[in-house]
Amino acid sequence: MKSMHITQEEKDKALEWVEDSSWVKLEIYNEDLEYMECVRDILDNPVFQSMDNFMQHGDTTCKNHCIQVSYMSYCVCRRLGWDYREVARAGLLHDLFLYDWHTHARETGERFHGFTHPRAALNNAVKYFELTENEKDMILRHMWPLTPIPPKSRGGLVIVYSDKFCGLVETVARFKRWFLFSVGWKSTA
Ligand SMILES: [Fe+2]
Ligand SMILES: [Fe+2]
Repeated sequence: MKSMHITQEEKDKALEWVEDSSWVKLEIYNEDLEYMECVRDILDNPVFQSMDNFMQHGDTTCKNHCIQVSYMSYCVCRRLGWDYREVARAGLLHDLFLYDWHTHARETGERFHGFTHPRAALNNAVKYFELTENEKDMILRHMWPLTPIPPKSRGGLVIVYSDKFCGLVETVARFKRWFLFSVGWKSTA
């Protein structure tokens, strides 16, 4: 029986792992065959790959952000002995809105990206991929509690948590680099 308690060492490792996202750029997750078994078709799909054209938080692209959220959710669920296939897949697709949200409001007048992008991501996801009902729910509810209805499953809650955690760390890491550059302690921001 696996321990339900995530240790401090595991938490530190997760933080380090999101702060230094070189493992995503180097595609080290490819070596995790159990993970790849769950998600290979999505990772290989050109629509998924096109998320590399859009920035998410800081200097992280939507594609890399989705891989981080997916892989973190997969690791947490596997560690706790929960089903991990659906979180791995829904994590990859949770932000498949396919536009640059930084310019979206100016270009379209639509100012509520935070509230509306889960629906946009789900519409794109069902257009290009076969999804279970639970995967659809995980994508649609991932912005809870900003959007009022929580996900139905505990896997969906793991995605909610991983998404917030990764978003925060990506933004803080960018700010940290900018700060060190501004005070002259680093040569590039
Ligand atoms: Fe999102
Ligand atoms: Fe996200």
